[in-house]
Amino acid sequence: MKKETALNEGVMSVGKTQDVYARHYDSMTVGHVEDLPMYQQIASIETPPYLEVGCGTGRVLLHLLSKKPDAAQGHYLTGVDISDAMLSICRKRTSTFINDGFLQIMKHNFSINELQDQKFHTAFVTFFTFNYIPENLQTNFLTNISKSLHSGGLIILDCFYPYLKLHPEKAGQWLDNEPIFINGRSIEFKQKTQMITPAIEKTEWMFIEPNGTINTTSRSKIYVSPQECVRLLKATGFTDIQRLLNYKMPGVNDFTEDPRGFNFVLMARKQ
Ligand SMILES: C[S@@+](CC[C@H](N)C(=O)[O-])C[C@H]1O[C@@H](n2cnc3c(N)ncnc32)[C@H](O)[C@@H]1O
Repeated sequence: MKKETALNEGVMSVGKTQDVYARHYDSMTVGHVEDLPMYQQIASIETPPYLEVGCGTGRVLLHLLSKKPDAAQGHYLTGVDISDAMLSICRKRTSTFINDGFLQIMKHNFSINELQDQKFHTAFVTFFTFNYIPENLQTNFLTNISKSLHSGGLIILDCFYPYLKLHPEKAGQWLDNEPIFINGRSIEFKQKTQMITPAIEKTEWMFIEPNGTINTTSRSKIYVSPQECVRLLKATGFTDIQRLLNYKMPGVNDFTEDPRGFNFVLMARKQ
């Protein structure tokens, strides 16, 4: 077998893993659709424009745009990400909406600053994007999102729960996933997960092409407990904090760790 690419980066160098990751991302996440109705439901209640932080290749943006009311005019949605590879795929997939003026796509890092001259009514921080933010930047990240929201604006944080807290016996093993399909090719897809600190879960993925070429990539996510997320949200000016169970409204006031979950979702309002 040929080994074409072996990238194995930690939290701080997430950008370098993006090429292999981005190329396989849509095929890897094709089955992850359970969050989409929640974003759509919130969009139907809150006023546009909406912001997605960590929009990746456009999975959530495309869903929201496909459900956009016919009467919606002008700027409806902005997606930002720090990865050129993800944004390049996203721009191609959403070009019609960009050209029609409904969508803006930008490279932007909320760990550094807010979006200048733009404010939103809702910020969706989707599919574990918050877990890629290093601990020392989490407050900046939330503060800068808050600055980019109108007063009373909503933030949604979808955070991961470590797989190995549920399945410690799987640590460090290569496990077979269902094959993924890209351009008609069936690609073998394996995954290995380990905790590299008590809070950092590293996942490595291996993709084996029909001709034997192997591509690998990895990502490390930082676990932030529900209680710690609540503390960070309060410290950065958010209130009315609720937890959405199973990606469903209405929320509850229970922020205990859920050892069955693979994630938890928090919703809060800017004061
Ligand atoms: C798991 S992907 C989620 C992609 C997409 N939102 C989805 O739901 O399919 C996480 C994304 O967060 C992006 N990301 C990581 N750190 C970021 C930051 N500081 N600001 C914006 N995006 C970031 C990554 O580049 C990646 O595209």
